[in-house]
Amino acid sequence: MRYHVLTLFPEMVLAGLHTSIIGRAADRGIISLNAVNIRDYADNDYGKIDDYPYGGGAGMVMQAEPVYRAYEAVADSLEKKPRVLHMTPQGRVFSQEMAQELALEEDLIFLCGHYEGIDERVLEEIVTDHVSIGDYVLTGGELPAMVMIDAISRMVPGVLNNKESAQFDSFQNGLLEYPQYSRPQEWHGRRVPEILLSGHHANVEAWRAQQSYLRTKERRPDLLKQDNHKNIM
Ligand code: ADE
Repeated sequence: MRYHVLTLFPEMVLAGLHTSIIGRAADRGIISLNAVNIRDYADNDYGKIDDYPYGGGAGMVMQAEPVYRAYEAVADSLEKKPRVLHMTPQGRVFSQEMAQELALEEDLIFLCGHYEGIDERVLEEIVTDHVSIGDYVLTGGELPAMVMIDAISRMVPGVLNNKESAQFDSFQNGLLEYPQYSRPQEWHGRRVPEILLSGHHANVEAWRAQQSYLRTKERRPDLLKQDNHKNIM
């Protein structure tokens, strides 16, 4: 998987994703991360890429041409036309199901906006998907892109070293994960559930399935109402 992030803050994206599991996957060449500074494609010497909105109003708008040129710099080097994901609170809300689907792509371009947004014409020309990470407004698209890259990368084969961990984590099967415990057996007067110490594998599995269900019912009852919880959220 090759990620290309069109952004005004490439250092932020690179710093945020070169640690932990995603950083390790990048070091091993399973994923690659290319952060493209839109400012490098300004049509002036001082890197200005925004201007006042036609019709008036607050804030500045990112201009079409620098965004388009940054896109072309990436897309022209690829064999196939890639999906271009525009990070915006006006998009379809990102989900585990979308992460799984996007993990099948070879290249993904993330377009991160700032200020009051991006000139609509370049969005019409290059964007294939408008995506939001939730119903709240952030100051820019970088954090959403990083969130999505993290979630998508977990679904790329080889990124997680234990294949099962992806399969059984929260949201797979549409249920939340059961509670986990480690040593010591007693901590602050709280004991690990006896059944987990029993060594009886079938009973442990049954208990975990029940806990998954109860936890989902308590914390995310909305997930139980969706009829796709046999599969993924
Ligand atoms: N940009 C600003 N807020 C956002 C959100 N919630 N999701 C995606 N992109 C955004």
